[in-house]
Amino acid sequence: MAMECLRIIGGKRLAGSVRVSGSKNASLPILAASILAESPVALSALPRLADVATLLRVLHQLGIASTYQPCGDLLIETVDASRSRAGHRLVSRMRASFCVLGPLLARRGKAVVSLPGGCNIGPRPVDLHLRALAALGAEISISHGYVIASARRLRGTHVCMAGPHGPSVTGTANVLCAATRAHGITTISGAAQEPEIEDLGRFLQRLGAQIDGLGSDTITVRGQAGLGGAVHRVIPDRIEAGTLLLAAAIAGGTVHVEGLIPAHVSRLLEALDATGVSLDVGTGHITIVACGRPRAVQITALPYPGIPSDLQAQWMALLSLADGQSIIRDEVFPGRFLHAAELSRMGARIELLGSSATIEGLPRLSGAHVTATDLRAGAALVLAGLAARGTTVVSGLEHLDRGYVNLHEKLSRLGANVERRIFRGPIIADVNDRPAAALRRPCKRF
Ligand code: EPZ
Repeated sequence: MAMECLRIIGGKRLAGSVRVSGSKNASLPILAASILAESPVALSALPRLADVATLLRVLHQLGIASTYQPCGDLLIETVDASRSRAGHRLVSRMRASFCVLGPLLARRGKAVVSLPGGCNIGPRPVDLHLRALAALGAEISISHGYVIASARRLRGTHVCMAGPHGPSVTGTANVLCAATRAHGITTISGAAQEPEIEDLGRFLQRLGAQIDGLGSDTITVRGQAGLGGAVHRVIPDRIEAGTLLLAAAIAGGTVHVEGLIPAHVSRLLEALDATGVSLDVGTGHITIVACGRPRAVQITALPYPGIPSDLQAQWMALLSLADGQSIIRDEVFPGRFLHAAELSRMGARIELLGSSATIEGLPRLSGAHVTATDLRAGAALVLAGLAARGTTVVSGLEHLDRGYVNLHEKLSRLGANVERRIFRGPIIADVNDRPAAALRRPCKRF
């Protein structure tokens, strides 16, 4: 059976510069929020990802046309504001499609949105979304796997977005969008402080929304009778930036990561520093120099500004090679450890207990055929393959394509031996005899 995979031959150190793409998790809620615009919207720096394409198809179902301009910007315009149903097939493929609920309610007074499917990182409830929208005055019912919501006029009120594992990021996005058209003032406490929510808020302000407190845990919105159009450039993807920094840490070498906002990865930089890598932080770039085995550290994934859950799997790949015992906890998605089993197939020594993983670092991993279970787990397996002895084959690329623009090309331009190809027949990941010691030559530090 033919299968598209990445084939990685480990042991190559990385060198050179790589530019970060636009943020997936800023682009998705901003695209959903374009439902609110009563004039055309132009978005730049949108990443060409599968998830973006899926959401554009959802918007098309909802009467919104989108066209990529020759300059790469995306022009968005409502052509039919009568539609209010986002179907199961597309929404179940990508949970972030649920972000159309708030904007539809606010702009069209009615929404029928499929409940998002579960996924491999743990339960994905939407109770915080629905409770907040009901508090704004929406009539909400659930029938046959759909959320059916309607509101003649939303009314401003106080809502709280804090849940048992921290604020809901897309829940904050949904209620923030709905509040921009509610009558009166809405206060959102326990709001997500992620940079992606701040970027959504700035986009809404450009549409004419009155919002204060962006980036804090308390956001205040004064509802408007209508919103206009806007031109907006989405922020760089801090998760991709973190993934590239961790790739350099695991493979060794000197890499300049450009086009990012260092303040968005400050806790990551602190933790990376503790592993012994050298970091030079500029205004829009970071240079990392990594050599030798990383020191063992303790990592806890937390809501922003903590280390993001979306980098937890990549951290596990790095710490599988650390000099000592590390512990990783995920307070956001306590069960987000499916990648541990795949890393163990590469020789990693990982013990799971509840929301934490204990990792006994090893001097080397060995190449294997491994399968991505979600997009960040896929990135972690690619990173592990960079440092493994022999050949690693990563399948399940449909996950990787959801969140990374040509990750294998970015890594091969940095010197990694990575190729994307279609394998026919059984896939054998051969382990060649390259001595692992060659993987970690001493190098100069800053
Ligand atoms: C966003 O998902 C991101 N996705 C996720 O990134 C990210 O992992 C997550 O936030 C946490 O930072 C997008 O922004 C498109 P949550 P979201 O609602 O909003 C619980 C990636 O790899 N919860 O913030 O769906 C929930 O179970 C993706 O790019 C409730 O209890 O996550 C979880 O434990 C994966 N009730 C925690 O809150 C709710 O109503 C955080 O969930 C909603 C969530």
